[in-house]
Amino acid sequence: MTSLTATEPYFDLLILGGTVIDGTKAPRFDADVGIRGDKIVAIGALRGQPARRTVDASGLIVAPGFIDAHTHDDQALLSQPDMSCKVSQGVTTVVTGNCGISAAPLREDMDLPMPLSLLDSPATDRFTTFKAYVEALRRTPAALNVAAMVGHSTLRAVVMPELGRPATADEIERMRAMVEEALEAGAIGLSTGMFYPPAMAATTEEVIEIGRPLTQRKSLYVTHMRDEADHVMDSLEETFHIGRALDIPVVVSHHKLQNSQNFGRSAVTLPFIAEAMKHQCISLDCYPYTAGSTMIRTDKGMLDGRVLIASSEPHPECAGRDLADIAAEWGVAKDEAARRLQPGSAIYFQMDENDVQRIMAFDETMIGSDGIPLGDKPHPRLWGTFPRVLGHYSRDVGLFPLETAVWKMTGLTARNFGLSGRGTLAVGQQADVVLFDPATVRDAANYTTPTLPAEGIASVIVNGSITWADGLHTGARAGQVVHRIPTP
Ligand code: ZN
Ligand code: CU
Repeated sequence: MTSLTATEPYFDLLILGGTVIDGTKAPRFDADVGIRGDKIVAIGALRGQPARRTVDASGLIVAPGFIDAHTHDDQALLSQPDMSCKVSQGVTTVVTGNCGISAAPLREDMDLPMPLSLLDSPATDRFTTFKAYVEALRRTPAALNVAAMVGHSTLRAVVMPELGRPATADEIERMRAMVEEALEAGAIGLSTGMFYPPAMAATTEEVIEIGRPLTQRKSLYVTHMRDEADHVMDSLEETFHIGRALDIPVVVSHHKLQNSQNFGRSAVTLPFIAEAMKHQCISLDCYPYTAGSTMIRTDKGMLDGRVLIASSEPHPECAGRDLADIAAEWGVAKDEAARRLQPGSAIYFQMDENDVQRIMAFDETMIGSDGIPLGDKPHPRLWGTFPRVLGHYSRDVGLFPLETAVWKMTGLTARNFGLSGRGTLAVGQQADVVLFDPATVRDAANYTTPTLPAEGIASVIVNGSITWADGLHTGARAGQVVHRIPTP
């Protein structure tokens, strides 16, 4: 404890005259917020009290920093540590290692199959243990906090010589040891992506057996489900079954219904999820767009609707163009053009706005961007997710009150992921804070100009350090590695 002297101001930072939305869904109230070091130490009428620095928040909402429930920022935290794509939105914590892919552990010599290569970065070394990854994050902190998970597809790629079959008992044993190592090093859970080729052949039993170390620590099982289209109900069943078998909480990532024949089915999936929630611990997240983005695929189900190329290794000049136009120019079918563009990433327009809104408005749904921090033409969710929910969906569409919108990106997320000390604005909490203008906040990024910073985000404070102010990054890199403390 530091002892106070008369000459030493009690507050390092005093946020004056704002309206607090505290991340619990409680109604907003006017209050000043006092920060000392990396903690919130006072909320109330604090004007006139001595402070090293004050920030004027009149007309602004003062909220807990946003937690991005679903990211692929594993490598970006090290190769682009300012993380402007997220900080500019008010995000102060990201959850990494989603969809079965994580930056660690990897082998130095291995080739990374898609979609693992979406995370590769020539700018940083590969990490052969999860511990080495976490140590690198601590040694060179990013501008925001990270809660990291280990990915099942990554473990498969490390351990298995061929991925098109279920793992053998010996391979399961080795993957289980790697899950144990990751949890020991601070991972908050295990993710799977059985939708993707590297894990498609994995059985439910394989996941349960490698996930055994999760049980004792009550760590999370987080999944990009095997199917988000015709067989979505089977996939939900499989997910809940794994959670019950391991007796741990599960997170359904980016819940959505793909392909036109499934439009409207969120009216069935959500009541099914709500019913299951009565019996086991389940949460879910979504992003506020009708297009998804992932690796370039060649299967018909993915190529049905409009497809926009986001990045392509062999044809970087095609980024930002429609697959249909490229195919016509080359005089080939869309699947052949997609094959020639691999490896790379694309944007797929294959969801229904009514489903997106119904899922987002579902009480328990958290907000996660699922942004892929790669190339010049990413899906706009990378830069726009959080202000889009606040501005477009809460304010303009009126889908839910601003208090609910903030809760879905703060308190709810911190509770579900066990990120204790964050997600609410209260005395004793970490000083992760965002100041935004409720009248002007909005996403500027769109499909043609996808890397524009949001409007209306006035200041972003990470662990007490002002990291974004007046539309610019301050250069602060005060991010911490966040651990999971499960709520009983
Ligand atoms: Zn995913
Ligand atoms: Cu993802």
